[in-house]
Amino acid sequence: MKPVGPLMREHRLIERVLPVLRHLGEMVSRYERIDPAHVSAVSDFLHVYADRLHHGKEEDILFKVLLSKPMTTEHRSTMEDLVRDHVRGRTLTKILDAAGARYVQGDAAASSDLLDAIQGLTDLYPDHIDAEDHRFFLPCMEYLTVTEQAEMLEEFDRFDKQVMHEKYANVTASLESEIISLRR
Ligand SMILES: [Fe+2]
Ligand SMILES: [Fe+2]
Repeated sequence: MKPVGPLMREHRLIERVLPVLRHLGEMVSRYERIDPAHVSAVSDFLHVYADRLHHGKEEDILFKVLLSKPMTTEHRSTMEDLVRDHVRGRTLTKILDAAGARYVQGDAAASSDLLDAIQGLTDLYPDHIDAEDHRFFLPCMEYLTVTEQAEMLEEFDRFDKQVMHEKYANVTASLESEIISLRR
């Protein structure tokens, strides 16, 4: 398997969350009540899975190695565009968090920020994934030797484990501060 295998598989899961996000957007545009648990699950998915785990492997491992290779101007410029998309995705996810938290508490004024974030994310991801899947990933594998590809797959595994440990360390820390500190 090539290192793009796990990355493309992750794209398929990210694509399944986009209709959920669009559906939440339709509910918000009708000012319907949305379940806070759904907002926090989508937000957790975007922060931890899409950004930290998926974009993390792309930026911290694949793109970093590619930077040391004699890439064509076109591939290098596509990679810069992809990194810019990741930054925009992070910004939109933060807006989604903040506006989503206000909306579920009954602040109807948060709906326009929430809808903008949802629109931005659901526009961004399909084009971004399409560029990686069809114009970037496979040609870029040509820059890596078979050994480098095998090492990269191992590094991806180590990265995934580290992200899981990080996620649950963060969950524990917020439970400690929100629950234990309330009981003191
Ligand atoms: Fe990406
Ligand atoms: Fe990706």
